This record gives sequence, structure tokens and C-alpha cells, in this order.
Amino acid sequence: MRRYLTIALIGLIVVTGGWILFFSESEGPGAAEMAQMRQRDAKRRADAQEAERRSKSDLALLSEQGRGQELPDYLISEIDREGNFWFVGKPDSVAGVQIPFAPGTLPLPPADTESLSQNPGFLGAEACRSCHEDKYKSFIETAHHRTTRLAIPEQVAGSFEKGSNRMNTSDPNVFFTMKQRGDDLYQSVNFFDWGFEVPFHIIIGSSKMAESYLYWHGDQLFQMNCTHLTEGDEWINSPGFIDGDAIYARPIRSGCLDCHVTYVDYRKPANHYTPKSMILGISCERCHGPGQQHVDYHFAHPEVKKSRYMQVPSKLSRQAQMDVCGQCHTTKKAPIDEQAFQFRPGDKLSDHYEPIEGKEDSLNSVHTSNQVGRLSLSQCFQKSEMGCVECHNPHRNERGNMSLFSQRCLECHQQEHCGMAEQLGDRLAENCIDCHMPVRASENLKVETGQGNIFPPLRDHYIRVDQEATKQFLKEESK
Ligand code: HEC
Ligand code: HEC
Ligand code: HEC
Ligand code: HEC
Ligand code: HEC
Ligand code: HEC
Ligand code: HEC
Repeated sequence: MRRYLTIALIGLIVVTGGWILFFSESEGPGAAEMAQMRQRDAKRRADAQEAERRSKSDLALLSEQGRGQELPDYLISEIDREGNFWFVGKPDSVAGVQIPFAPGTLPLPPADTESLSQNPGFLGAEACRSCHEDKYKSFIETAHHRTTRLAIPEQVAGSFEKGSNRMNTSDPNVFFTMKQRGDDLYQSVNFFDWGFEVPFHIIIGSSKMAESYLYWHGDQLFQMNCTHLTEGDEWINSPGFIDGDAIYARPIRSGCLDCHVTYVDYRKPANHYTPKSMILGISCERCHGPGQQHVDYHFAHPEVKKSRYMQVPSKLSRQAQMDVCGQCHTTKKAPIDEQAFQFRPGDKLSDHYEPIEGKEDSLNSVHTSNQVGRLSLSQCFQKSEMGCVECHNPHRNERGNMSLFSQRCLECHQQEHCGMAEQLGDRLAENCIDCHMPVRASENLKVETGQGNIFPPLRDHYIRVDQEATKQFLKEESK
């Protein structure tokens, strides 16, 4: 009896109250009961451990407490020489993580700093609305206006629903889950047993092909690992990212924003900005010049019906018009001294951008199809005064309307002059485009995914007789 009492006392110290009752009530457990007890004890311990593990790995819970998940011992981390990025890896695996915040911490919220330089007068399209309502209304439907916008749930094209919110990679230890909590969206990364979450802040890309995502870490802007591809409604690796890695440390340089936002105050290399100065989308003003003076003047002088302090590209020489669009639609190198947003209608591109090396007409650049360079090779361009607005109305979204674009060819051409006129009859006028300006996949737009490479196709602006495209067109038509 004394022996049982001792055990009961130890039980009191080690285990919880329920056991004491069990001991004191029983006459003394037999061997089978002892085994059962040990089993229950082990399960209890395992449950407690699991609960503890979960509280350390529940990223939502941790982030509420302002922290990230601690790095387990079997993963190694290393900071790069300049002290900007952390690499996380496993000694026996090629997969790796790159993040600009220390493992176990969260990205910082967007910095609330004041601008370093004065905004040269960019306002954004909303500022033009009250006096140019018609233009504004159709303009907000364009890819230019939509090319960057806030990453709120209604705007992100990809799915956050269970079942379609996961992006697998070729490495089963590395996968991504798109999560929504309230209005906040996250890319959640699983790297072996470890993980972290990065918030969506900005969408880049109108999503006609794809949209990629950016996030702030203090005053620094970075690209996220997962991009959404419109065709097939798929989550894929961002272009140039390596499948099986989790990369959240790719800096968004000023050259990238020069083509995709109206304006932002640039602080210093490589990617420091003033978050609240950013004007999302490409507004009217990147083609017409900053609007502040024009708006101030016309508000102050409502009786004046003649425009002041505003440029219209079509009043410039053709070369100058091409340069307006060429800010973003040509092979061009980075802005000189990283000073983006300096170009004004009437300026020469070469005043603001590093000179282009090699052949200017190379099919693709960045990930645009170099419309300026390619169009310039065409007979249409060389033997007329054609510019971009001969075919594109910058104030409307006319995408996909092949018969409208074909009408624009017929401003200069006659249907009968096309060698296919007899064979196709009136159908010819419905679509000059697919035979003379076919879409082609581009090596420069290679996107690596777990399922192989993808090459989103772009339209070739070198207008010419294209036998290959004609064959393809006739084949499609006979289907
Ligand atoms: C307070 C009213 C007002 C606001 C706001 C305003 N404009 Fe104007 N704008 C005018 C008036 C008045 C004219 C001259 C009449 C016309 O062409 O409609 C004009 C003309 C223009 C023209 C044609 C210029 C020409 O020479 O033919 C452009 C381009 C233009 N505005 C762009 C803008 C842009 C871009 C914004 C926003 C940044 C803007 N406007 C905001 C009043 C305004
Ligand atoms: C500041 C940069 C910038 C300037 C200036 C600019 N574009 Fe663009 N443009 C873009 C970007 C970026 C896109 C792609 C937007 C997207 O899909 O996210 C685009 C898309 C387009 C499209 C495709 C629209 C669609 O829905 O398919 C056309 C056409 C176009 N631009 C024509 C022009 C013309 C013409 C000019 C000059 C009058 C011009 N752009 C000036 C950056 C610019
Ligand atoms: C020289 C200007 C330029 C630079 C620099 C540039 N882009 Fe673009 N981007 C474009 C244009 C133009 C298009 C539209 C392609 C087309 O229609 O020919 C585009 C398209 C895109 C798209 C697909 C949008 C769609 O049509 O659905 C994404 C995403 C994108 N860019 C992201 C980026 C990111 C991220 C960077 C920087 C790392 C960047 N771009 C740098 C001009 C540029
Ligand atoms: C991609 C470049 C681009 C963007 C963005 C753009 N425009 Fe224009 N805009 C032009 C060009 C080029 C012309 C000359 C068109 C022509 O001659 O056919 C023009 C002409 C105009 C004109 C005068 C001629 C007319 O059609 O009445 C006004 C006013 C105007 N734009 C206002 C705006 C406003 C307001 C916005 C934004 C809501 C805007 N534009 C956005 C390139 C642009
Ligand atoms: C601003 C006027 C203009 C527009 C718009 C125009 N072209 Fe042309 N195009 C020309 C001229 C000028 C030539 C030179 C041949 C000639 O003198 O007829 C030409 C030549 C061509 C050629 C022969 C090319 C060669 O290398 O021999 C084709 C094909 C062609 N155009 C197709 C088109 C198509 C398709 C469109 C619409 C997407 C179009 N053009 C729009 C003016 C234009
Ligand atoms: C002769 C007519 C014509 C001219 C001139 C022209 N384009 Fe286009 N462009 C088109 C057609 C047609 C499309 C296909 C539109 C569609 O798919 O809905 C197109 C598509 C585009 C696109 C979308 C790219 C893509 O692959 O989907 C951009 C960007 C563009 N053009 C920019 C320009 C710029 C910049 C210029 C001047 C350098 C220009 N275009 C001159 C006819 C023209
Ligand atoms: C089914 C494909 C197809 C369509 C659609 C088509 N073309 Fe053509 N086009 C051709 C081919 C192929 C040739 C060369 C014929 C030859 O040399 O016998 C050609 C030749 C031309 C030429 C050059 C004639 C010359 O003298 O060299 C022009 C201009 C032209 N097309 C304009 C157009 C216009 C404008 C449209 C729309 C109204 C159009 N094409 C629609 C395939 C097409």
C-alpha cells in the first residue's frame, strides 16, 4: 500500500489532477492497466507537442503577434555580402529561399516617409475627369490605366479558393498557397517544414496576358514569386524566376516603374521609393505631360476654352510622337542615372535613356514586342507618315476588334490590292491582321513553371507579306 502511495505522489507532481483520482480510487493497477496508462500519457504528451508546434507554425497566428516562424535547425541561412538579402537552404537540396527580411521576421509595412524630390506636376487620370469626362470614362478601361493597381481582392485575377489557390513546383518540398484574411491577401510559402507569408500590395500587368505582384518592405519594393497567367487561369513562377526556389528579394528598379506607373518619388538604388507618392497606372500625363499647371489654370479660368499648358502628341513631328510611345514600347535601356519619369512629350529618348546596344529592331525587348522598332521596318511606315495613332486610339480599349483594326488598314489600302482578295472575297476585310501582323511566341518572355516553359505570344508590328501566317490563317479558317 505504501508503494502505491509513493507512485500516487509522483503522479501528483508529474501529471495532472485526474490521475490522482484514478490512483486513489483503484486498488492498484495491474500490468495491463499500467501499459494503458503509459499509452495515454504518451498520447497526451504528443498532443501537447503538436499544439506547441502548431502555435509556432500557424503563420496567421504568428503574424498577428508580429513575428514569423523561427527557422528550424536543419535549415541554414546566410546573409549576402551587402547585407541586403537572406538565403535559406537545406544542405542536401538545391531548392532555396531569398528574402529581404531576416528569417523569422515579417516584411515591414510600407514606410510613411515624405518625398525627397518635388513631384513635377503629375496628378493621375482622376484629376482630368471633371473636365474630360468622356475621355476619362473610356480611358479607365485601357491596359495603360489598369497596368498597375492596388492588390485588393476584387482586382486580383487569380483564385484564393481552396483547391485552386496552390502553386506546386517540381520540388514537392516547396509550394505556395494564396491566402485571404479579410481584405488582406498573402502568398504563403512552404519550404520543407518551414514557412513564411508575404502580403500582396500592388498588381502589375493589366492581366490580358498575366499579372505579377509587388510588395513593400519599408521603402523598398520587391516582386513576388508567384504570377497569375490569364490563359488557363494558373498560378506560375514570375518570368525569370527559377522553379523550385522561393524568391521574394527581386528588387523593382526605377526602370520597371518608369514603364508601369505614372510617377513615384525615387529615393536611392536599387529600389527605395516613397510609397505614398506613387501614382498607379499609366495616366494621360505620360503622353500629354504633367497636368498640374493645366488643371490649375483651367480651374482658375473657366471662361477660357482654349487649352493652356498641355501637349498633344499629334502636333509633334512623327519622330517625336514615336518617342512618346517609345518611352515604353521600344528596346530601351535603363533611364540615365536611374532617373525615371524625366521624359516629356517633345523630348528625344536619347536625352533620358542609355543608348541601345546592338540591333535596335531585334524582335523583342524586356517583354514587349518592340512595336516602335518593328513597325519602323515596314513599308507602310517607311512610305507614309504613319505613326501609332493611325491604328490605336489611346483613349479606348479596342483590343480584339480585328475588323476595326482592318478598317484602319483600309484607310490607306484597297482590299483588291491584297493578293488574297479573290480567294477570300469580303471575308478579307474582317481580318487583315492575322496574316500581316501575326502573333508569335517570344524567347524573351519565357516563364518557367512546374509543368515546363510558357511563351506568351505577342503581335509582330513588322507589317509584311507572311506566307507562314497566311498558311496558318487558311488552316484555322477551314476548320
Ligand atoms: C478645369 C478643367 C480642366 C481639367 C481639370 C483638365 N482640363 Fe484639359 N482642357 C481643359 C480645357 C478648357 C481645354 C480646352 C478645350 C478642349 O480642348 O476641350 C482642355 C484641353 C485639353 C487637351 C487638348 C489640348 C489641345 O491643345 O488640343 C488635352 C490633351 C488635355 N486638356 C489634357 C488634360 C489632362 C491630361 C488633364 C488631367 C491631368 C486635364 N486636361 C484636366 C480643361 C481642363
Ligand atoms: C509610360 C509607359 C507607356 C507609354 C508612354 C505608352 N505605353 Fe502603351 N503600354 C504600356 C504598358 C506597360 C502596356 C501594357 C499594359 C498591360 O497590359 O499591363 C501598354 C499597352 C499598350 C497597348 C496594348 C493595349 C491592349 O489592350 O492590348 C497599346 C495598343 C499601346 N500600349 C499603345 C501605346 C501608344 C500608341 C503609345 C503612345 C501614344 C503608348 N502606348 C505609350 C506602357 C506605355
Ligand atoms: C521598357 C518598358 C518596360 C519595362 C522596363 C517593363 N515593362 Fe512590363 N510591360 C511593358 C509593356 C509595353 C507591356 C505590354 C506588352 C505588350 O503588349 O507588348 C508589358 C507587360 C507586362 C506584364 C503583362 C501585362 C499583361 O499584358 O497582361 C507584366 C506582368 C509586366 N509587364 C511586368 C513588368 C515588371 C515586373 C517589370 C520590371 C521588372 C517590367 N514589366 C518592366 C513595358 C515594360
Ligand atoms: C498612350 C498615350 C495617351 C494617353 C495615356 C492619353 N492620351 Fe490623350 N492623346 C494622345 C494622342 C497621341 C493624341 C492625339 C490623337 C490624335 O491625333 O488622334 C491625344 C489627344 C487628346 C486630346 C485632344 C484631341 C481629342 O481627341 O480631343 C485630349 C483632350 C486628350 N488626348 C485627353 C486625354 C486625357 C484626359 C487622357 C486621360 C484620361 C488621355 N488623353 C490619355 C495620347 C494619349
Ligand atoms: C498610313 C497608311 C497605311 C496604313 C494605315 C497601312 N499601310 Fe500598309 N502600306 C502603306 C504604304 C504606303 C505601303 C508601301 C507600298 C505601297 O506604296 O503601296 C504599304 C505596304 C504594305 C504591304 C506590302 C509590304 C511589302 O513589304 O511589300 C502590306 C502587306 C501592307 N502594307 C499591309 C497593311 C496592313 C495589313 C495594314 C493594317 C494593319 C496596313 N498595311 C496599314 C501604307 C499604309
Ligand atoms: C497598322 C496598324 C498598327 C500600327 C501603326 C500600330 N499598331 Fe499596335 N497593334 C495593331 C494591331 C492590329 C494590334 C492587335 C490588337 C489586338 O490584338 O487586339 C496591335 C497591338 C498592339 C499592342 C499589344 C501587343 C500585343 O502583342 O498584344 C501594343 C502594345 C501596340 N500595338 C503598340 C503599338 C505602338 C507603340 C505602335 C507605334 C509604334 C503601334 N502599336 C502601331 C496595329 C497597329
Ligand atoms: C489569308 C491571309 C491574308 C489576309 C486575310 C490578307 N492578306 Fe494581304 N496578302 C496576303 C498574301 C499571302 C499576300 C501576298 C500575295 C502575293 O504576293 O501573291 C498579300 C499581299 C498584300 C499586300 C501587298 C500587295 C503588293 O502589291 O505587294 C497588301 C497591301 C495587302 N496584302 C493588304 C491586305 C489588307 C489591307 C488586308 C485586309 C483588308 C489583307 N491584306 C488581308 C495574305 C493576306
